[in-house]
Amino acid sequence: MSPLHVTRTLPEDATEAALRADVRDGLTATPKTLPPKWFYDARGSDLFEQITELPEYYPTRAEREILAGRAGEIAAASGARTLVELGSGSSEKTRYLLDALTDLDTYVPVDVSESALTQAGQALIDERPGLSVHALIADFTARLTLPATPGPRLLAFLGGTIGNLLPAERAVFLSSVRALLTPGDSLLLGTDLVKDETVLVRAYDDAAGVTAEFNKNVLTVVNRELGADFDPGAFDHVALWDAENEWIEMRLRSRAAQTVKVPALDLAVHFTAGEDLRTEVSAKFRKQGVGTELAAAGLELTHWWTDREGRFALSLSSVR
Ligand code: AVJ
Repeated sequence: MSPLHVTRTLPEDATEAALRADVRDGLTATPKTLPPKWFYDARGSDLFEQITELPEYYPTRAEREILAGRAGEIAAASGARTLVELGSGSSEKTRYLLDALTDLDTYVPVDVSESALTQAGQALIDERPGLSVHALIADFTARLTLPATPGPRLLAFLGGTIGNLLPAERAVFLSSVRALLTPGDSLLLGTDLVKDETVLVRAYDDAAGVTAEFNKNVLTVVNRELGADFDPGAFDHVALWDAENEWIEMRLRSRAAQTVKVPALDLAVHFTAGEDLRTEVSAKFRKQGVGTELAAAGLELTHWWTDREGRFALSLSSVR
């Protein structure tokens, strides 16, 4: 029997239906928006991997530095026998945790990408005989049911991806995470931190233009999946710092007045010259705010680690 189990909680057609609903809602709203989760088709995932290696994009390296230095402390504090990772992708940074968790029995990677899950899952099994891997094909923003595995559980949500949710969405998300945990379990959360505006804006508007390509890729996804006729070249990449909300926004700015057709939705969308389509919010945090949001969801912040430059944080919290 293979120790790689794969469970699909996401119906095969759910992605298509969700994309249609998001595109219809977002492109008929004022101001226009699209949710960032649609960046990540094969090309978008590849572009994101390239972003993580850009000199300007520090979060991945900062988080890796913390994991490399603190995995032992995280493992000791959690005592986990099951590691659940939301949005596991290639499970690249997870190896620090897997190596440090001496009592680990089961790894549960959760991702919408079946190919990423089976690739990463099989590689882990080959490297670590004895480890059970129970992959879940699921959307972590939707209701999750975890397999019955031994506790305590450590649930990891890395990369600062929580910052791509709006505050109200974060509250819902953290409450649903809390509902998955029982006393003795813990949450390991990666959050990018508030810092100098120029550093932040450069991280989302790199000199090589990779982030611009990544941003415009969402238009290619909508073209392919819904038959739309977006011309990615008719939009400019914009990254700006919203000091009030303490988040970075990525936008696509229409270079001229234009009408885009979305046949699958029987929709025509007009853009005025200079009109923005918001494609991503990436919130930046402070320790106090993270503690407050966790507490509101019934979680108590017990550990806070940053990289040496104080750019990124990992927090550990437990069920109150
Ligand atoms: C790592 C997915 C949270 O918000 O920094 C990178 C995605 N967007 N460059 C982030 C992203 C633009 C990213 N996440």
